[in-house]
Amino acid sequence: MTKQGVLSVRIPGISLSHPLMNASGILGSDMNHMRRYKEWGLAAAVTKTFTPRPRRGYETPIIIELPTGGFLNAVGLANPGKDALPELINVGKALGLPVIVSVGGTTPEEFREVAIVADEHGASAIELNLSCPHTKGYGLEIGSDPRMVYDVVRTVTSSVKVPVYAKLGLSDYVVKSSEKALEAGARCLTLINTIRATYIDVYTLKPVLSNVIGGLSGPPIHPVAVRVVYEVYKELRPCIIGVGGIQDWKTAAEFIAAGARALQAGSMLAVKGRLLVKEVLNGLTEWLKSHGFRSLEEAVGAAQRA
Ligand SMILES: Cc1cc2nc3c(=O)[nH]c(=O)nc-3n(C[C@H](O)[C@H](O)[C@H](O)COP(=O)(O)O)c2cc1C
Repeated sequence: MTKQGVLSVRIPGISLSHPLMNASGILGSDMNHMRRYKEWGLAAAVTKTFTPRPRRGYETPIIIELPTGGFLNAVGLANPGKDALPELINVGKALGLPVIVSVGGTTPEEFREVAIVADEHGASAIELNLSCPHTKGYGLEIGSDPRMVYDVVRTVTSSVKVPVYAKLGLSDYVVKSSEKALEAGARCLTLINTIRATYIDVYTLKPVLSNVIGGLSGPPIHPVAVRVVYEVYKELRPCIIGVGGIQDWKTAAEFIAAGARALQAGSMLAVKGRLLVKEVLNGLTEWLKSHGFRSLEEAVGAAQRA
């Protein structure tokens, strides 16, 4: 079996040649970024979160590398608004990339507004960002309230034909919110978004980000993300896309063993580019072989069977 064959996997609406795609918001989402995702060999492209109208985002600095490891960002969901989606989706499709459109909003209606544009213009799936940790009204306030999760997901699934995925973040209610998202018709869960965090400059005595609070990403959040994937898979056995701190094949394999069937890489993809993609795909292929798995699907949740 070819390397691609062993790693190929189906998620609702998409046959992936391998499990790795970019995480939303990494490198923004203009046409050139789509081309770069293709050159790097990613299996699908996930767009930046799009809102109904353009958003400028916060003043700089919006992203910093932390001395304790990882990154802290508060971009403020800067994006060109839903009218820019059709062209972006077309570019991705012309490159042969399945395009997953990330959708954001402050009300179920706003999510619907953007999702309909994505659906009508040929997105392969929609990922609802129910977990942005630093933009008031967008995201985590919704994702940590299981009833609101249900309302947003239901509003969108009843309005579009393409599969809808729900992206949730860290909260005490992540298992309950996952359950409600699935009940409302979500076909896959993307777990997790960045984690709320602050970094203070002890010399100026000021928080470094203009927004004070940002989202922590990269290797420091990986064990937390694996824990969330493990718990949600244990309780609900859904389709899961694991995201948070993937930096090599081992951190990718952990997600699969915990219960994820696909993967997104963000911070370390921005740092390592195509090298990360190559390393993860080669490493996963060897890992599957060493355990006698004939396909990646056989390894999903393997750590819960031991
Ligand atoms: C600069 C930056 C911008 C991001 N923008 C978005 C976004 O627009 N929508 C979203 O759902 N997640 C966004 N994220 C979160 C990532 O998609 C991902 O969930 C998170 O970074 C964890 O993955 P990582 O540790 O591999 O970076 C962003 C992350 C970063 C670092």
